[in-house]
Amino acid sequence: MWKDSYLLDVDVIDNQHKELFKAVVTLRDNLGKADLPSYKKQLTETAMFLKEYCINHFRDEEEYQRKIGFDGYAEHKKKHDKLIDDVLNYEKRLITSDFASLVVKNFLGFIATWIIYHVGVEDQQIPKGKSATSARIEDRDLVHDFAVNVENVLKILAGLSEQNIHHTIGSNRHIDSGVSYKVGLVDAPNNRGVGFVYSEDIAFGVVKAMTGMEFTELNEVMYSAMQEISNIISANIASLLSKKTNISVDIETPRQVQIDEIPGISNSFLVHTRLGDMEVVVY
Ligand SMILES: [Fe+2]
Repeated sequence: MWKDSYLLDVDVIDNQHKELFKAVVTLRDNLGKADLPSYKKQLTETAMFLKEYCINHFRDEEEYQRKIGFDGYAEHKKKHDKLIDDVLNYEKRLITSDFASLVVKNFLGFIATWIIYHVGVEDQQIPKGKSATSARIEDRDLVHDFAVNVENVLKILAGLSEQNIHHTIGSNRHIDSGVSYKVGLVDAPNNRGVGFVYSEDIAFGVVKAMTGMEFTELNEVMYSAMQEISNIISANIASLLSKKTNISVDIETPRQVQIDEIPGISNSFLVHTRLGDMEVVVY
């Protein structure tokens, strides 16, 4: 899962990032054994390690950011704080379920997606002293910006090159089966939000590209990974909107829904990739 392109050339942080990836790989490698009692101890240790390590690593990384006067510090720290909250919640769920394989899969899909995107994109802005989204905003059509943003997220997570991804803006719905999520925009008038439809192909393909795991049917690893991808994209969109409109836009937690619960109106775009297609609806 680790790639040398994630290096920041700050040794202490790079080494910690590698340790985090290693812990996720251990979690992945033990997944098939999650129901065996002998592995519960190992799973417990790995999950606890991830929690402790995230807390210590974020502290060191934030200290470094303050030292170099990183202008995206406050926004970045919020992402760390949210991850710690999420990991603490997963810890509770893991313990109360006695490390049920369903919950472990859920945790794996989430943490793998979060770490790859955070280290691969958000942390990459640190040495340059720019925040993750501010560099990219130009005065272009908003939907086009959203689509480019979605492409960038998928490129990083699934290691797709420019030739393997493109988008079509339009309002026709193209994907009629797969996994879908809705993300409400907080305080926006008329219940506005963003809908995501992932074809099964893209759900399988992205998880395989991220973790090396191949599955034969949709499961909690995919659901959790697609939920976190929806979360990352929505947060980017909220940040773009806030900067364009000067109104602070926040997002709700992505909710898994039936495809027909996503409104068919308003702006939408289809993202075609080598791995499969996904659709984004801004309603
Ligand atoms: Fe970070």
